[in-house]
Amino acid sequence: LPEYDNGTKPYLKIYRDYFFLVDFPRDLKSIPPFEVREDDIWISTFPKSGTTWVQEIVYLVMNNADTGKALQTTIERRVPFFEYPIPGFKAISAMPSPRLIKSHLPLSLLPDQMKAKKPKIIYVYRNPKDTVVSYYEFLVKFLTYTKFTGKFEDFCRLFTEGKVLCGPWWKHVTEAWARRHEDNFLLLCYEDLQADLDKNVRIVAEFLGKSLTDEQVARIVKHCSFDSMKNNNTVNYEWFKRKGLARKEPKFLRNGKVGDWKNHLSPDIVKQFDEIVATKLPMDFPIKDTLS
Ligand code: A3P
Repeated sequence: LPEYDNGTKPYLKIYRDYFFLVDFPRDLKSIPPFEVREDDIWISTFPKSGTTWVQEIVYLVMNNADTGKALQTTIERRVPFFEYPIPGFKAISAMPSPRLIKSHLPLSLLPDQMKAKKPKIIYVYRNPKDTVVSYYEFLVKFLTYTKFTGKFEDFCRLFTEGKVLCGPWWKHVTEAWARRHEDNFLLLCYEDLQADLDKNVRIVAEFLGKSLTDEQVARIVKHCSFDSMKNNNTVNYEWFKRKGLARKEPKFLRNGKVGDWKNHLSPDIVKQFDEIVATKLPMDFPIKDTLS
């Protein structure tokens, strides 16, 4: 594979049509036996699509908008990351119901039991141009341990070839699009959250069978604004810095805008992304890469 570590060693490999870290298959193979519960709530995304935002919204919807409770524990403990070694499958297996679980795995790689147990799944996608900027800034500038050391242009090329972690992006989102009408499935879009958070909180609540007062919805909207989350130490991944996992300066909640790609992507790269949207996504798949 051409995906490189300093231009020398591959660091990604293909597993059932998707790219993962070379040391990942051990975990992936252990996924099928995982006990899924009917009342699990899964938040599934391609990385950098608004996962943390939706994790926090879902947590608050499920906990009567109790922002005080949310502020006591980091999001990675309240809504653990399924395929990440911390806290790991064992710890997630032992969590009380209803469990809220985050995953970046494509839907086809989630545990087999999902088919029979039909837990609720919320999938959020974001336009690919802002996603690639956010992804690069996160992997290369924020994290300390990523092996990718190429330039932004290299990363864009790999993204358009489908060769970044959890890629191809278009395959990941198309799987979700195909399931958008299923009863236990909710498809959200980052740009819609930006356009009307209040409405999307209500959509999430209805999907999860929770009735919230207007006051509770307003509390969630305020708590989940970009500025509020940026300064909230239970969701802004500042703890990564204390653990040496992230560099000091960059912020996890970096920019949080629709259309920031205009400050990063050259016309050539924009063309490549437009071509992907035109040729690799279903015809009616809505991509919103500028604020209307
Ligand atoms: P940017 O890098 O463009 O700022 P994920 O949680 O999937 O890793 O996604 C992270 C992206 O979501 C970051 O995008 C981050 O700023 C953005 N984000 C997180 N919380 C947000 C919020 N409350 N409002 C807007 N964007 C948010």
